[in-house]
Amino acid sequence: MSGLIPQRFIEELMDRIDLAELIGGRVQLKKAGANYKARCPFHDEKTPSFNVRPDKGFYHCFGCGAHGDAISFLREMDGLSFTEAVEDLAKRAGLEVPYDESVKQEIQQARTLTEALDFAGGFYRKALERSDAGYAREYLKGRGLDAATIDRYGLGFAPPDGDALYRAAGPDLGKRLIETGTVSDRFGRPRDLFRNRIMFPIRNSRGRTVAFGGRTLGDDKAKYINSPESDVFHKSREIYGLYEARQALRQVDRLLVVEGYMDVIALAQHGIHEAVATLGTATNTDSLQALLRHARHIVFCFDGDTAGFRAADKAMENALELLNDGMHLQFLMLPEGEDPDTLVRREGAEAFRERIESASPLSRFLFDRQRTGLDLTLGEHRGELRTRVKPLLNKMPYSALRDAMWQELRRVSRFDPRERAKSGNGPEPAREEPVEIKVDKATSLCLGLVEAPELAADVQEHARHDRALADAVALADWIQEQGIRDRSALFRSLALDASARQRFFHLFDGLEYVPAREQALATVQDMLQPDNEARRRSRINTLMRRMASGECTDAEREELKRLTSGNGS
Ligand code: UTP
Ligand code: MN
Repeated sequence: MSGLIPQRFIEELMDRIDLAELIGGRVQLKKAGANYKARCPFHDEKTPSFNVRPDKGFYHCFGCGAHGDAISFLREMDGLSFTEAVEDLAKRAGLEVPYDESVKQEIQQARTLTEALDFAGGFYRKALERSDAGYAREYLKGRGLDAATIDRYGLGFAPPDGDALYRAAGPDLGKRLIETGTVSDRFGRPRDLFRNRIMFPIRNSRGRTVAFGGRTLGDDKAKYINSPESDVFHKSREIYGLYEARQALRQVDRLLVVEGYMDVIALAQHGIHEAVATLGTATNTDSLQALLRHARHIVFCFDGDTAGFRAADKAMENALELLNDGMHLQFLMLPEGEDPDTLVRREGAEAFRERIESASPLSRFLFDRQRTGLDLTLGEHRGELRTRVKPLLNKMPYSALRDAMWQELRRVSRFDPRERAKSGNGPEPAREEPVEIKVDKATSLCLGLVEAPELAADVQEHARHDRALADAVALADWIQEQGIRDRSALFRSLALDASARQRFFHLFDGLEYVPAREQALATVQDMLQPDNEARRRSRINTLMRRMASGECTDAEREELKRLTSGNGS
């Protein structure tokens, strides 16, 4: 749809929007020359590396690389679509968006559906107040919810009769309710989908109702049913409770992902407002992406039974490929047989918060899970651990976290932890072998070119005829084309661009070690001065051997450090 809003309108809009004012409404900005600085809203940080340039109309974070304009800011912060972001900005600027006719109709159509759904929400809320709904009110009270919470989540009641909603809506609204699946006409006459159920409206980020969940108050086979997908409801895109969380909290820094509607609401009742539930399976990639669009810090909450662990493993595996620096994922496993609703009611908010705080970070969770059943004092089992963990780490885009996890894998899979523990008396602990550093030349080269684009032309000239480096040269071209300035931008661009990823990812895949900046630069320089490189390599090898046999002098140690950091040639 974006192409159908004229570009000149967008430009005019951008001219009228004060970016400092827009962003300043969300984060504390501090003026610094023509710039404003802030702590980045897109990743956790202590010192401000988020810069806003109102005169240029963009922001940039030197920490996580977040970058964009007013439109992308709203899309990222509020999870709005392009069109929604433009509408939001237009409203602020007092302008009307000049849509194409066809788009106008589409928007109008969506509006009529959410209007009908909002109407249904109102109908269910009112039905909960009626005298014949006493048992529904009792039910909610029995589950510990007070009037304020019921109100905040817009809970309602679907009466047991077959077409109460449809009759209240009348034929016109009724027709639209049929389009959303809230009323079914499958049996030749309209029949409400939800009957004798507690109703949970599912609202989008702007607070419009897009679907419902309903919990039975009787003994229906299906404890919960949900609206089917429709033009306004895409399961994997919506997040239950997010709108309400945003209403309750000024800024949502962290999301706690739980399984059920009642879990979200029970937690809110206890003052824990950041709980949400996904509507598809929490663990599929679409839902994970939706979650990560709204918060960089996510705590997944699962039951502590076998199914819960299986779901957690799945979430972890699918999250790996989406993880960039600045994202933080944690896993909270509850005691078996409990869900957040029962637990928070039993042990209170304070204890539940402590559980959240001590949830396992993804890196720890991954290792803990993969090492279950293994005895790491046995070499075979350490090998098995490597076999299990390696493909997982290879799914991750490059990041400091991935680096650290590779190091951790090398640490835990190489040594006998019991021998490590025995320091002092007993036999000397096994000496640490020098880690075999396997850096592909092509990879190192690309990374070096990211750091020193001014050398790209020389290297390309030089490598033109080296077939092994053909892809590296092509990647160097691409890096220039994209205007990529640093390696985190490179990895981010690769993460976002599927076709580039396909072409170039093999350069990075399976790499156990991301060359340091200096080393990558050295590869570039060495390529242009090959003799130095050969000499340096052989000197490094000699020094490594001396180091391994414990003969290295302090001066040699220094030399080795210098050589391997790339400044020595
Ligand atoms: P649970 O079966 O764990 O129920 O379903 P719950 O949330 O603990 O519900 P209460 O406490 O008995 O009321 C968790 C989620 O799975 C979906 C719903 O979204 C529910 O909130 N679900 C469950 C369904 O869609 N259909 C069902 O039949 C059951
Ligand atoms: Mn429950």
